[in-house]
Amino acid sequence: MRHTVTKVVVPAAGLGTRFLPATKALPKEMLPVVDKPAIQYVVEEAVRAGLPDVLFVTGRNKNALENHFDRATELEQILVGKGDAARLQLVCESSALANVHYVRQGDPLGLGHAVLRSRDHVGDDSFAVLLGDDLIDGRDRLLERMLQVHDERDTCVVALMEVDPAQAHLYGIATVDATDEADVVRVRGLVEKPPAGTAPSNLAIVGRYVLKPEIFPVLEQTAPGRGSEIQLTDALLTMAADDEVGGVHGVVFRGRRYDTGDKLDYIKANVMLACEREDLGPGLRAWLREYVEQLVLEPV
Ligand code: UTP
Repeated sequence: MRHTVTKVVVPAAGLGTRFLPATKALPKEMLPVVDKPAIQYVVEEAVRAGLPDVLFVTGRNKNALENHFDRATELEQILVGKGDAARLQLVCESSALANVHYVRQGDPLGLGHAVLRSRDHVGDDSFAVLLGDDLIDGRDRLLERMLQVHDERDTCVVALMEVDPAQAHLYGIATVDATDEADVVRVRGLVEKPPAGTAPSNLAIVGRYVLKPEIFPVLEQTAPGRGSEIQLTDALLTMAADDEVGGVHGVVFRGRRYDTGDKLDYIKANVMLACEREDLGPGLRAWLREYVEQLVLEPV
């Protein structure tokens, strides 16, 4: 099915304070997951869904990101000289992947503010927002399903996942009504990172959004919220109450997601994804088994 969304916005201007000191001079989206920067997985996901027009919203330390999606002619020539075709392909892949564009955020005033900075590029069309530190397994077609729900219902769409209630304070949390489709809900309430123990549900927003352009004037009017940042969640709450713009729907995702913005989850993502790789998996699994056996013997 053809959909009206053609553009993707990838905000990558956050300070990444949970990952210091690694993120002192590097956007957290550039941290490698196995052997590729996290953000490359996200761009590959966009391209797979038929959306090769990608706008990065960048902050300080944008150079590493820009260089990664650009040609590296000197390196390419050296690899050509060595006849190393396999590595040459790896180097060229990221620069040929998508049509990339950049806009600076200026001050990191929040995710909502970063999305607002994409307005001139996006114009009057719906668009997708993919967070560069949230990886969705390539085998799970979440973005495609969200685009389909957007087209069928003419609505903003967020990705929702059930999380452990003890973790709910780390997410935007939704209250929802069921619809006639098992994996689609109508969003009625949203709260960004509710204080521990106060979350109204365990349905958390994860880093995928399909947004209608009507979000832009709402974002402009959205006052700084939690953490004194302009929160996308707050603007979505306004959209959710507006039937004229189609409200907000959620696609409840039950597939594989890897959070790479948090140190512990980042380590888990690396281990899980490396275990599945043909080149690394067998060696890593064998070593992990031995290592776990040792851990079991050690007192906690
Ligand atoms: P996070 O809240 O996870 O990012 O924002 P952060 O602020 O960089 O991380 P910590 O909490 O300090 O470790 C979610 C996404 O929104 C982007 C981030 O880069 C991340 O992809 N973001 C956030 C911006 O682009 N600009 C902002 O002002 C804030």
